[in-house]
Amino acid sequence: MNPVIAALNFRHACKAFDQEKKISKAHMDTILTAAHLSPSSFGLEAWKFLVISSDEVKKALRPACWNQPQITDASHVIVILSKPGVADPSHEYIKLNFKRRDLPEDLTKAYIEKYTHHMETEVFPRMTAYAWCSKQCYIALANIMTAAASEGIDSCPIEGFEKEWVEKVLSIDTEQYEVAVVVALGYRVKEQPPRKRHPLENIVEYR
Ligand SMILES: Cc1cc2nc3c(=O)[nH]c(=O)nc-3n(C[C@H](O)[C@H](O)[C@H](O)COP(=O)(O)O)c2cc1C
Repeated sequence: MNPVIAALNFRHACKAFDQEKKISKAHMDTILTAAHLSPSSFGLEAWKFLVISSDEVKKALRPACWNQPQITDASHVIVILSKPGVADPSHEYIKLNFKRRDLPEDLTKAYIEKYTHHMETEVFPRMTAYAWCSKQCYIALANIMTAAASEGIDSCPIEGFEKEWVEKVLSIDTEQYEVAVVVALGYRVKEQPPRKRHPLENIVEYR
């Protein structure tokens, strides 16, 4: 079987983690490399990955996450932070982001103009900078889960949390970062349940 499909078959939203089994540093490095290599619109990388392994911090975090046991039972919890402030076309970060491509000056200028136009006409009329940056964070989330699964590591994506409470518990500087999504990582104690998916032909259309 294709190894990516094998990993995707292994992955499920794990609800019960083995509290005793910890993910090795080498495996966490692999998982974080998958996050690091994730694409983002315009290559903005407006994110940060807060890796939590401290039992004390996980315990404090759990009530802010609908008291879900995955938070305390998992080996590691990654809180993916979105960095919406830098998406503002006038932010210095935008200039630096395009300059680092080492393109001729006129092309860099054209990229910044294209970005500004796109954000003003397509993105901001429809969503906040937080929502747009969080969309990119979810790409990293998917890669984290697939990379984990490829190493036999289970995960549970978590949106069931009270954002402001989580930010308070973790003392997030909300002027810079906001919580996008959370993922718990560890090892399952139970068999994974049968997969529920609508038939492929219902969701795919060829033209
Ligand atoms: C963005 C996102 C947020 C989710 N939040 C939670 C959550 O807070 N708690 C939970 O137990 N499962 C959560 N899930 C898991 C979904 O319920 C699960 O992925 C879905 O039912 C499909 O099951 P599967 O992942 O096992 O294939 C979340 C999934 C996604 C993608």
